[in-house]
Amino acid sequence: MKTIALSLGLAAAFAAGIAVAADDAKLVEQGRYIIRIAGCNDCHTVNYPESGGTVAEAEWLTGNPVGFSGPWGTTYPANLRLLFASMSEMEWMERARKPLRPPMPYFNLQAMSDQDLRAVYAFIRSLGPKGQPAPAYVSPDVAVTTPYIEFVPKNLPAAHAMKGK
Ligand code: HEC
Repeated sequence: MKTIALSLGLAAAFAAGIAVAADDAKLVEQGRYIIRIAGCNDCHTVNYPESGGTVAEAEWLTGNPVGFSGPWGTTYPANLRLLFASMSEMEWMERARKPLRPPMPYFNLQAMSDQDLRAVYAFIRSLGPKGQPAPAYVSPDVAVTTPYIEFVPKNLPAAHAMKGK
């Protein structure tokens, strides 16, 4: 009798475990989809746009050593694999609601639902840490020594000029 109760208990725990794993897998899948369609790889993955989006998923979001230079200084797409490995889900939810420097479309993160942000977190964590940190931000008055893209609009009417931060 005891054995039956024990095995029933184990079976229930096992089934619950499977249900949680299925939920996790669904969240990771949702995160993969969001990352792909939200264009995060365009900047945070080396060679992603140049290769027509064919970079292997194992290399995704490892950051970019090529900076974007504009009135705000020079910014580098962060290595999200390292960042997420060192950040709790709660820290991520807070960070995702705060502004970041151009050309990071932080407003796209702000527009995501909590559920979407949790999915992004689950997916990036599932990839695991990889690569080196991206170079640190360089302020506008300091010379840039890394490769960079000049991200400055030309021939715009003054009213459209990009503002620094
Ligand atoms: C147009 C290029 C571009 C795109 C597209 C982009 N990012 Fe970024 N991202 C950057 C740059 C540049 C920075 C560094 C900003 C700074 O230094 O303040 C950054 C910073 C970040 C940071 C902050 C890292 C830190 O150390 O605090 C997070 C998180 C992030 N991006 C996530 C995303 C996600 C998720 C997406 C897709 C929804 C995305 N980014 C799309 C360029 C981009």
